[in-house]
Amino acid sequence: MEFQNLKDIAKQLMAGNKGLLAMDESTATCNKRFKALNIPQTEEYRRKYRDLIVNTPKLEEAISGAILFDETIRQSTTNGKLFVDILKEKGIIPGIKVDESARDMDGFPGEKITEGLDGLHERLTEYYKMGARFAKWRAVITIGENTPTSGSIKANAFLLARYAIICQEVGIVPIVEPEVLMDGDHSLKTCADVTNEVLHTVFNQLYQQRVNFEGMILKPNMIVPGIKAAQQDSADAVADATINCFLRCVPASVPGIAFLSGGQSPELASERLNAMHVRFKDKMPWALTFSYSRAVQQPALEKWGGSDENIAEAQRLLYERAHINTIARDGKYTP
Ligand code: 13P
Repeated sequence: MEFQNLKDIAKQLMAGNKGLLAMDESTATCNKRFKALNIPQTEEYRRKYRDLIVNTPKLEEAISGAILFDETIRQSTTNGKLFVDILKEKGIIPGIKVDESARDMDGFPGEKITEGLDGLHERLTEYYKMGARFAKWRAVITIGENTPTSGSIKANAFLLARYAIICQEVGIVPIVEPEVLMDGDHSLKTCADVTNEVLHTVFNQLYQQRVNFEGMILKPNMIVPGIKAAQQDSADAVADATINCFLRCVPASVPGIAFLSGGQSPELASERLNAMHVRFKDKMPWALTFSYSRAVQQPALEKWGGSDENIAEAQRLLYERAHINTIARDGKYTP
């Protein structure tokens, strides 16, 4: 594998003012979202929903890469065309979630560990043949009274780094996603301290496992107060805490940072991304964009609700949310 290729893919994913679309919800997560809206939790309805997404008019104007799930990368439209081929025709790079989800971490009550290294090289080789050029692995860090522990941060960071180097060996750009959850009532400062520790540990492990920073993308959380915190800080405060932390922890050789939305409202996720670009224009060494799932999809999913007659309107809402985030990436969004 020519390293230059990884760099080119990463650069293309970060190009212009576009972002990534996470449409890689596992079957369990997708079913959970469907259940809340009384949508049948079947393979056919999951296929219909992803069909709606990939066929959204103008999607490629806002989205450079779409992250798929194993079930989805094998699925086709109602007319029998593989989703991957539709994406490629639109110039959207197909990606694939390869972790096997976060589970309770033995020996560490209240913490999670993400698994999926077994057979990963072979699975990635297959996904490459199917057209995937980037991948995602999400590690979960929980803020609680006695968490996160350094044992859990280190274990998750090591697994992220092994995943990343295996991706690069196969010619796939790894998205490295250490998510500090926003569940809880902790302050912005606590989230900043934890994120700082997590990112330093992750980059140390990436270095030790010989990952080329130029051929990867970081997918972090924004630094935000817990969802139940009494004090909900302004978008400007979130922007300052987040970018100042990254300037200390994320090497300048990393080409791009693409945020997860993590349960923020679509509006807040756009407003905060916008504030970062307004306040740190020309001061960031990396491209900074979005890789949202819920903050782009939720209004469209609610509008669709499983009914064919709502497809066009749901697609309009999906495009609208993605488009708004491209404006935020230019620092020109007004809520
Ligand atoms: P959210 O934007 O809904 O947090 O999802 C992003 C993601 O890909 C989590 O792994």
